[in-house]
Formats: sequence, structure tokens, C-alpha cells
Amino acid sequence: MNAERVASQADITAEIACIAAGYQRASGGPGEETQPRLDYPPYRSSTLRHPKQPLLLVDPDEVERWAPCFGHQDVDPLDADLTAGNPGEPIGERVIVTGRVLDESGAPVAGQLIEIWQANAGGRYRHQLDQHPAPLDPNFTGTGRCLTGSDGSYRFLTVKPGPYPWRNHHNAWRPAHIHFSVFGTAFTQRLVTQMYFPGDQLFDLDPIFQSILDPGARQRLIAKYDHDLTQPEYATGFRWDIVVSGSRRTWTADGCDG
Ligand SMILES: [Fe+2]
Repeated sequence: MNAERVASQADITAEIACIAAGYQRASGGPGEETQPRLDYPPYRSSTLRHPKQPLLLVDPDEVERWAPCFGHQDVDPLDADLTAGNPGEPIGERVIVTGRVLDESGAPVAGQLIEIWQANAGGRYRHQLDQHPAPLDPNFTGTGRCLTGSDGSYRFLTVKPGPYPWRNHHNAWRPAHIHFSVFGTAFTQRLVTQMYFPGDQLFDLDPIFQSILDPGARQRLIAKYDHDLTQPEYATGFRWDIVVSGSRRTWTADGCDG
């Protein structure tokens, strides 16, 4: 019988600290590793499923023959309100999440499809694989979308997701987060990331958050509370900008020109 011991939070925290110390010794300075490390052993499943070969470059024109696409007319303004569309209001802390999609020079990126998905206020997804004993909310599906405006802005109304347990190790919990997908103008430009809320006590314990070794890059995933966005008697406001990478923009331009 396999009696391999399940890692504790203390084990995972020690592994995280060890990798961070090694990174600090080897790093030439801030900004060295701003993307998640794909092979990050404290995030247990990453050791088996990360790519071991260099990624293949695809022909953007060829991919567009079969890749999903969308039309701007498909996106209804109400899709950005995750508290609407059901018989009642969802339970939880109502929040406004807004920001801008920018390129590396700070210019707005307009007309981008942004899709979000998240757990409900109790920390449970409406998904068959999420069976942990937190309540489902009949008034909350946890999905929304919108298009960025001419100034690159987006805005969602939702409820703050709860932290949730996962099976990476014993007593593992994810910090509260909202998943974001920025579609770009073609499927090959899609960017998927997560937004976090300030002050979460689980940041230091979470191997997914910590798999980004550059501290500044981790901070850029955390939205800022903005009292000017907060609406009296209604919702608190958070601001979070998304900067798409310059290297990807260059590659995209080549693809379009080709
Ligand atoms: Fe999640």
C-alpha cells in the first residue's frame, strides 16, 4: 500500500521559501521572472503537466481557420453584471471591478473581449468538479464578459469570491481571485490570468501565486481598493489594469502583416 505522506502547509511553505531564496541569489534584479514558473514543485500538478519541450510557434493565419472567434454583436452590456440575470440577488459582498487594458507603452487596447469566471462568495464554483461542501448560490453562475471601450476600460459588477480549498497539499486554500481571459483580436493572442484582492492572508501560502518569483510581478496581480469607485449603500470598488506584453504585440503584428 502506498503510504506516501501528504505534504503539510509547513512543507509547502518551506519549499516556496527555498525556491524564492535561490531565485534571489541567482537573480540579476527585479523583473527577472515575471511569468509563472511552469515547473514549480510546490504546485504539485505542475511537475507532471508542464511542457518539457520548447513551445511550437504556430502560423496565426492557419490557426484562425479553425480557432474560436467571436463577434462584437454577441456581447451584451448586461453580460458584465454577474449579479443580474437570475431571480434574485447573489449572496455576498457586492464589488465593482474595473480597469484598463494597456499595451507596454501605456496606450489603451480597445475592443478586447474580456471574460471572467470565479467562485461564489462561499468559495464554490458552479462546476461538477467542485464538490466541496460550500453552498451553491442559485443566483450566481460566476461568469461574465465585456468588451473594452475606446480608452481600454472594462467594468464588472459581481460579488467578492471566497477562498476555496484545493488538493495540492493538506489544508491547501487558494486566495480569493477572479480568473480573467483577454481574447485579443485573434485566438493566438489569448491571455489568461488571475486577479487577487488586497490584503489576502493566503498570499504567502499559495504555491500558484508564489510560482511567479518576481515580487513586483506578483503585486501587479493584486487589485487596488479605490474609494472613488465605491458606491454608497451599494458596492465597494477595486481597480486593476492589465498590461499585455510587448513581445506578444510584436509577434501579433508580424502575424497580421503576414
Ligand atoms: Fe480559481
